[in-house]
Amino acid sequence: MMYSEKVMEHFQNPRNVGEILNADGVGEVGNAKCGDIMKMYLKIEDGVIEDVKFKTFGCGSAIASSSMATELIKGKTIEEAMNLTNKAVAEALDGLPPVKMHCSVLAEQAIKSALLDYSKKNNIHIDGLEDINFDDDHHAHELEEL
Ligand code: FES
Repeated sequence: MMYSEKVMEHFQNPRNVGEILNADGVGEVGNAKCGDIMKMYLKIEDGVIEDVKFKTFGCGSAIASSSMATELIKGKTIEEAMNLTNKAVAEALDGLPPVKMHCSVLAEQAIKSALLDYSKKNNIHIDGLEDINFDDDHHAHELEEL
């Protein structure tokens, strides 16, 4: 079987679907090649991710990745959320097929994009976000290669 049971389970029964009104941070990222889009909403209090919701217009692996990623950062600090890699998301799903690894990249990037929005709105600095430009071509190429 190509997909793990966990991928199938999170795809069929995704956690934290929806949006947060008046979210503290909202991020949207897409993959130019497949056209899938992921939107992430964060409620942050005292540096902790109190709530997180997502909307993903994309493939099953992207939905499973977003679901797992939200579970992994809920209740965690901003720093811990920053440290969540796409590999950790894929591992938590018991793996993704190589051609589907970029779906987990979207989840990592959606969280970082939402944190960037939060940092801008609150005029604070979050270590590790300064190097990321979600809109530039370079990044789109990076995603395409994955
Ligand atoms: Fe592109 Fe899954 S195929 S996000």
